[in-house]
Amino acid sequence: MDFDDSDAVRGAQIPKVARGFQLHPGARTFWLTGLSGAGKSTLASGVITSLREDGVGAYSLDGDIMRSGLCKDLGFSPEARSENIRRIAEVAKLLNHAGLIVIVAAISPLESDRAQARSIVGEDRFFEIYVKADLNTCIGRDPKGLYARALKGEISNFTGISAAYDPPKAPALVIETGKTSLIDSLAQFKSFLMSHTANL
Ligand SMILES: Nc1ncnc2c1ncn2[C@@H]1O[C@H](COP(=O)(O)OP(=O)(O)O)[C@@H](O)[C@H]1O
Ligand SMILES: [Mg+2]
Repeated sequence: MDFDDSDAVRGAQIPKVARGFQLHPGARTFWLTGLSGAGKSTLASGVITSLREDGVGAYSLDGDIMRSGLCKDLGFSPEARSENIRRIAEVAKLLNHAGLIVIVAAISPLESDRAQARSIVGEDRFFEIYVKADLNTCIGRDPKGLYARALKGEISNFTGISAAYDPPKAPALVIETGKTSLIDSLAQFKSFLMSHTANL
């Protein structure tokens, strides 16, 4: 098929994500870990919006969205959580290879699962970011009402209440959302991401 070179037709031939967005073969994954309510999804979506405004190809993989689709067969046992993280990491790797910067927002409570994610994505492409807020701050926020239910015993294996959270031992960045405003937290994350993306 011949392609008409007019903008309208050329636009129709190009996948939307590639039109007007920079893609990078060496794109990285920025993996946000932290308790429920720490601010992972808020920071991921804020920075993705800002990157898109800048014309940078980026995509977020949010734990809740992954669990409602690709991982909907999985529960919250340690084995199921491990498989959940493995699948998210495999998708992050594929998206990186397609040239998209990836931000993962998933509790990812276990050190061993995060280590596996790092090895799947690739040591040189993976940045672990600890979105840190203490348990009482998260319980006070309780944006989805989950802590109230977990504290009443209505949800089992709930991270921070009835399941462990291993704080990262050597995160590339710590964002203390209980002590830093949302605006400043977003700026801190965006600046870290850009400084580890600039040379791609
Ligand atoms: N500095 C901050 N960074 C991120 N979120 C914050 C901050 N301060 C307050 N919040 C609030 O905390 C809540 C975090 O919820 P969410 O992003 O859904 O957490 P998570 O995805 O980690 O479970 C939101 O209501 C957000 O507005
Ligand atoms: Mg979230």
